[in-house]
Amino acid sequence: MIRRILATAALALLAGTAFGQTIKIGFITSYSGLNGNLGPYMERAVRLYIKEHQNELPPGVKIELITRDDTGPNPDKAKQLAQELIVRDKVNLLAGVIFTPNAMAIAPLATEAKIPFVIMNAGTAVITTRSPYIVRTSFTLWQSSFPLGTWAAKKYKTAYTLVSDFGPGHDAETAFTQAFKAGGGNVVANVRVPLQNPDWAAYMQRVKDAKPDALMVFIPAGKSATAVMKNFSDLGLGQAGIKLIGPGDITTEEELPNMGDVALGATTVFHWSAGGDRPANKAFIAAWKKEYGANETPNFLSVGSWDGTALIFEAIKQQKGKLDPDKTMEIFKGWKNPNSPRGPISIDPETRDIIQPEYLREVRRVGGQLVNVELETLGTAVKDPWKELQKAAAQKK
Ligand code: PHB
Repeated sequence: MIRRILATAALALLAGTAFGQTIKIGFITSYSGLNGNLGPYMERAVRLYIKEHQNELPPGVKIELITRDDTGPNPDKAKQLAQELIVRDKVNLLAGVIFTPNAMAIAPLATEAKIPFVIMNAGTAVITTRSPYIVRTSFTLWQSSFPLGTWAAKKYKTAYTLVSDFGPGHDAETAFTQAFKAGGGNVVANVRVPLQNPDWAAYMQRVKDAKPDALMVFIPAGKSATAVMKNFSDLGLGQAGIKLIGPGDITTEEELPNMGDVALGATTVFHWSAGGDRPANKAFIAAWKKEYGANETPNFLSVGSWDGTALIFEAIKQQKGKLDPDKTMEIFKGWKNPNSPRGPISIDPETRDIIQPEYLREVRRVGGQLVNVELETLGTAVKDPWKELQKAAAQKK
């Protein structure tokens, strides 16, 4: 045993590897509060990726995942946790984060301490501009809601938007409205609802009275999505001929069984679905079920975290276990994966945001279960449209 360790150490030295190096990842997500059930969908993905790919790490290099609960959308708490992880735990990287306000609060700390920060969920477009040490492996709301608006304008004359009143909601509203109008559609109302516990029945009644062809909703993924579905159905909006559409956050895979048949027919645009027929997706879902149980399913937060961990692995491998923050960011900027569960993805070197496919999906019953069935690929390499439009506007000046 000792001889083997010495031999590995000698090999590592020869290869210029940092033998005995532990890479510490400070992992902040929500294990309590709004969407407290979603943190484990991220952590499980990171742990599963590490388990499956550990043998690819340079010899002697280990990863330590230090998990922290930001308690939901709580920027002060997130900032305090990031500070402690940087100063006390001396992490090499920060990762995770479901909520935009939390990511925004951590951004200046990442810059100041030069700690690469891999965002695995938070989706407001502006976040990546807040620190050169941020990279994002999730999505932006513009990536889903803009193509959704373009598609919807070909099918519907009028739309009503209902979004949670914070960053990603504002982005979903603006992106959808802009694209829907550009396609000739008419947006009859843009309504924003409180992030926590909105009175859905009252909002849905107003939508019903306005009689739009389509209702576009964004709420943070999770239990709120089920409340939206139930109220949409209970108040008879579907029967009144109103179509429910939105980014994929409103039909997350882990909530579909709780929603039941009321979700049938909801049409969404998103970068990933459990129903996606790609071999890499099937392998990912099979590995998840093997590890966590046949009735368990990953969701889009899991996919952002899985691919984010693959990104981190690349930086560790290329630097042989000795991470330099600036070199790490350079490696991140050139990263590509033709075989993510979502399809081909890469990091845009200009913006450090993800480039990915976007799929048009519809909730259908397949083999007794509700599934987001991918109907069409709306784009194979979609860059964040908000940044693309900003760039185009700046070039015009
Ligand atoms: C965000 O805060 O950026 C966020 C939260 C939940 C989502 C999407 C985005 O489903």
